[in-house]
Amino acid sequence: MVTTDPSLRSATRRRIILFPTPFQGHINPMLQLANILHTHGFQITIIHAKFNAPNPSNHPHFSFKPINDGFAEIADQLATNQDATYFRKYLNKSCEDPFRDCLAGLLAEPGQDPVACLITDAAFYFAQAVADELKLPRMVLRTSNLGCVLAYDWKNRSGSEWNLGSSQYSRSSSEMQWLPRHYEPFFEVSSASPSYRWKINKRCRRWLKTLICRRIGSTFPDSDYEASVPEFPLVKFKDIAKITTNPHGMGEFVTNMFTQMRASSGIIWNTFKELEESDLETISKDFPVPSFTLGPFHEYFPATSSSLIEQDRTILSWLDKQAPKSVVYVSFGSGARITESEFQEVAHGLSNINFPFVWVVRPGTVAGSEWLESLPENFVEGMGERGRIVKWSPQHEVLAHPATGCFWTHNGWNSTLESICEGVPMICSPCYADQPINARNVSDVWKIGVFLEDGFERTGIEMAIKRVMMDKEGEEIRERISCLKEKVKLSLDEGSSHAKGDLKDIQVRERILS
Ligand code: UDX
Repeated sequence: MVTTDPSLRSATRRRIILFPTPFQGHINPMLQLANILHTHGFQITIIHAKFNAPNPSNHPHFSFKPINDGFAEIADQLATNQDATYFRKYLNKSCEDPFRDCLAGLLAEPGQDPVACLITDAAFYFAQAVADELKLPRMVLRTSNLGCVLAYDWKNRSGSEWNLGSSQYSRSSSEMQWLPRHYEPFFEVSSASPSYRWKINKRCRRWLKTLICRRIGSTFPDSDYEASVPEFPLVKFKDIAKITTNPHGMGEFVTNMFTQMRASSGIIWNTFKELEESDLETISKDFPVPSFTLGPFHEYFPATSSSLIEQDRTILSWLDKQAPKSVVYVSFGSGARITESEFQEVAHGLSNINFPFVWVVRPGTVAGSEWLESLPENFVEGMGERGRIVKWSPQHEVLAHPATGCFWTHNGWNSTLESICEGVPMICSPCYADQPINARNVSDVWKIGVFLEDGFERTGIEMAIKRVMMDKEGEEIRERISCLKEKVKLSLDEGSSHAKGDLKDIQVRERILS
């Protein structure tokens, strides 16, 4: 928790208006940031969509202003449409007028402290024009890490032409298509769920290669599905298929988001500089506005009060009865969906290992099911006291519990950070968006987890759990992530790169206030 600094409190209280996108993984860090800023003397107003609205009674020290988002008209598509970009683009249109009206109203309120700045989720790119119109500085919160933004932006940094093998490919200057055209066939075999896509892709590897060669005039480099993307070696070809179902839509979305991030007064990142030091310099060249690495936010304020689903706290007393580092914690975050057969593979994987487990099955995770209908017969009876299945967990506390031995995760950035901060080794099953890039960093760069390369398949699951929980490799991973955990603690204590430090830094404070 951040402790209130009286020297900052004595300064004139200024208002900050924050505007999160209405998804759990974005609401959590925005409300955590709001709490950090409040503790440093700012009054907080949250403008929010009605969809996934935060509960004001959990934050009595903030003012909340709901706006009409028009989302109800498409919200029923969330269960079936895998294109996350579609929803974000829709909200950028549907929220524009209501947001402008709400913000103008807040600025005109009599007797209120002046507004220091607006902080919106970077994904709300439309808000820059509104802020400019109302002459209000806008800062953005980017909820992913630096490395992910650099991966999305590699085309921008690589110049106006791609050089791949012996072929040159021109880039349209008007629109940054996120992917070179010759990668598009990876998406043409896409189907209902990200990992289903992956399965099809594996089967069709040969066919894909032929198709790609035909598309680009047979000069596709001699790489295969396992190979790294030449322009961004961290990412493998097979990862690309998971990042988006809609490369054109994502290209346009990312272009808009990055353009408006560059036009903003500054970027706040939920990361810490000791983790991504090497990317900081590139980011500051690429985005020549002030960048603040204020994370990890949850170290100051846990996400409990911004949870959209009630957290099942009964598992904490169950965890108390388990041996240290013996429990496998499984959760795929707030948006990922899997097929019925994948769900069954997870269940078989968990029943075939001897470790106790906590498995978060968010209602709606399994395509076509409400909750647990597609579990294999007798699974619940068989797991007995060895396992617990819950709809939503107090994740931060589960990861911090001494009984937790590893985290099988989708590598959403919040979950990844939370695992790092508690020193819990990861098994990576990324599903979409930034998750494949986070997972590659976790397994290949930071080496603090193993990548479940072949999707949800029981033998692979058992092997991955054993690697982390029993093998020497797992011990080494645990050592590395414990070192990283220590670095976070040290950084928090010293106040070198985080909210406490940066917000006490008078220049940073002035920048937010000016
Ligand atoms: C998505 C993206 O993948 C992520 O990288 C992006 O920055 C935000 O949106 P999401 O699926 O929401 O992520 O996962 P994650 O970023 O990990 O956020 C989930 C949050 O919910 C975490 O703060 C986690 O602690 C919390 N949670 C999760 C719970 O409180 N209980 C649970 O059972 C599971």
